[in-house]
Amino acid sequence: MPGATAPKGITIVSEQVDQPVSTSGGARVRVGDHVELRRHVPGNLASFQRWYADPDIAEMLRHDLKPLDARQSRSYFETLILPLSARGFCWAITERSGGRLLGTTALTEVNRGDRSALFRIVIGERDTWGRGYGTESTRLVCEEAFSGLGLSGIRLEVFDHNGRAIGTYDRVGFRQTGAHVEFVRNRGIDLHVREMRLDREHYDRLGVFASRIPVYPPDGPDRR
Ligand SMILES: CC(C)(COP(=O)(O)OP(=O)(O)OC[C@H]1O[C@@H](n2cnc3c(N)ncnc32)[C@H](O)[C@@H]1OP(=O)(O)O)[C@@H](O)C(=O)NCCC(=O)NCCS
Repeated sequence: MPGATAPKGITIVSEQVDQPVSTSGGARVRVGDHVELRRHVPGNLASFQRWYADPDIAEMLRHDLKPLDARQSRSYFETLILPLSARGFCWAITERSGGRLLGTTALTEVNRGDRSALFRIVIGERDTWGRGYGTESTRLVCEEAFSGLGLSGIRLEVFDHNGRAIGTYDRVGFRQTGAHVEFVRNRGIDLHVREMRLDREHYDRLGVFASRIPVYPPDGPDRR
């Protein structure tokens, strides 16, 4: 992969060599101890729709706090998630052992000035929360962003009431950079939003890398 670098001690290998593409999911992009980032495939739609229909997940995720109906989530998946994944900026999160599809994560709104992008994550399979999968997935995305895509920083927004996500981001190394309040019209309430950021130098200094076998599609798109 042109221009790709890896953390010390990590070797980039071709998926064709020793990581055959699974028939049940998309190509592997990053592999951790417990989870993998893969390209999304059209067959992930039903799970995606179930996650976005969950009212508790919507409370943590959506600025209007409302779940998506089946038509909205299909449109979101087909017009945004699949194309973004094909471009190398959005990934399915799967369990390494058994290949179960757990969630989705993405980098959006790339700022070409400071080479940063906005991070998003949903682990939709709630029975797997609290096992460290969110932390590992976030680290894998950071490593793909910094070493694979050549980004310098990752921004995110998280609601103050989402303690689990804040715990995850703190552990990975994100630091709060600001905060703002949004008015949720359909609820008549204020939503307190925390802004956080992680820069490549800081992440490298922490020295906790999740990628075990970084793999790249040998003929994938230019990822920069
Ligand atoms: C946020 C999310 C990605 C975290 O993934 P996860 O696999 O559950 O997270 P992890 O197990 O890696 O870590 C969660 C940490 O938060 C801690 N935690 C859990 N609930 C908490 C709470 N209410 N307050 C503070 N910390 C909390 C956990 O104890 C754990 O820390 P620990 O390992 O030090 O104990 C996942 O829960 C999720 O997708 N939630 C729904 C969608 C969402 O919130 N997305 C993020 C939007 S910004």
